Amino acid sequence: MTLLVTGGAGFIGSNFVLDWFKTSDEPIVNLDALTYAGNLANLASLAGDGRHLFVKGDIGDRALVDSLLATHQPRAILHFAAESHVDRSIHGPGEFMRTNVQGTFTLLEATRAWWGGLGPEAKAGFRFHHVSTDEVYGSLAPDAPAFTETHAYAPNSPYSASKAASDHLVRAWHHTYGLPVVTTNCSNNYGPYHFPEKLIPLMIVNALAGKPLPIYGDGQQVRDWLFVGDHCSAIRAVLAGGRLGETYNVGGWNEKANVEIVHTVCALLDELRPSAAGPYTRLITHVTDRPGHDRRYAIDARKIEAELGWRPAETFETGIRKTVQWYLDHADWVADVQSGAYRAWVDKQYG
Ligand code: NAD
Ligand code: TYD
Repeated sequence: MTLLVTGGAGFIGSNFVLDWFKTSDEPIVNLDALTYAGNLANLASLAGDGRHLFVKGDIGDRALVDSLLATHQPRAILHFAAESHVDRSIHGPGEFMRTNVQGTFTLLEATRAWWGGLGPEAKAGFRFHHVSTDEVYGSLAPDAPAFTETHAYAPNSPYSASKAASDHLVRAWHHTYGLPVVTTNCSNNYGPYHFPEKLIPLMIVNALAGKPLPIYGDGQQVRDWLFVGDHCSAIRAVLAGGRLGETYNVGGWNEKANVEIVHTVCALLDELRPSAAGPYTRLITHVTDRPGHDRRYAIDARKIEAELGWRPAETFETGIRKTVQWYLDHADWVADVQSGAYRAWVDKQYG
């Protein structure tokens, strides 16, 4: 029994791989192209661990995917690999189409060809688990009910449009070819190994460096934050018991405006690493808003709870404290990812 994980050197994928081996000895083949967002340092604790095989490669490389499937005969594919940052998708949508749409298509086609040749038992037991986002549903009005699995797709950014396209491909491969798929649509994650281009880690590393904390527009945009370990436990639950062809929304029942998030991060840093220059909120700066910025996301996670008994283990208070502490304890990791490429991005985005 083996799992094939794509994108397992990124933020959520590496958390998934690390968490998996806490409770299972089932091997993982980890296929990751190591883009700027992929980081083998996330997996350093698995060095020499025979359960983990890392393969540097692209999900769009059909010959490579064919050979990995033939060699390792996985009982499931967990598809995390994607370009994932909305702001980067605004500056350059091409990579998002190439990986998220074309790459998912190639992965599905390779999987279909290999899966079609399996015996009846292996064929029925196989799962293609597609990891997606709540952003495919678009923006909610302040008083609108949270996204259920039947909410109409209305993506507004190149990133969310590319993820929506990949969701549709996965759905179609199930309906047309019978491929045994499940999809999870999760809200914003936070936690260890989060690349510091996204809101929470960016605010932590900027505050510690005494740099401005850039809030887009009025900062009243709402996201539904979930600790990454809870996303990983939801994926394990859906992999084990999710119904074929179904989608499951995953969220933390934790809607917060961006300004509130930034104030919480500042307050934790004031407590854990006070600055001689005064409270970290002094660094908050309102900057030009993101084009097409979705105002609110909120997840109705009742389906996964009712069918699979999943609920988040962390509250926002416990999860954000662990996260801030993790960044304080891992200054080397932060320095490592703040490479030349990272600095070029920060210059492009924030001037
Ligand atoms: P990430 O950007 O941190 O990591 C993506 C990983 O995919 C990296 O390791 C990268 O090297 C790899 N990758 C990119 N292109 C590849 C390619 N062509 N072939 C092979 N590997 C490639 O992203 P993340 O935040 O860990 O997100 C993982 C998945 O979860 C994505 O599909 C994303 O859409 C989804 N998701 C993310 C969030 C969130 O809050 N971060 C929320 C819901 C869903
Ligand atoms: P982000 O972490 O990029 O996730 P997403 O856009 O996928 O939700 O951003 C979270 C929210 O924080 C989003 O409303 C944009 C906002 N934001 C800022 O205000 N300033 C920043 O520097 C960043 C990166 C994000």
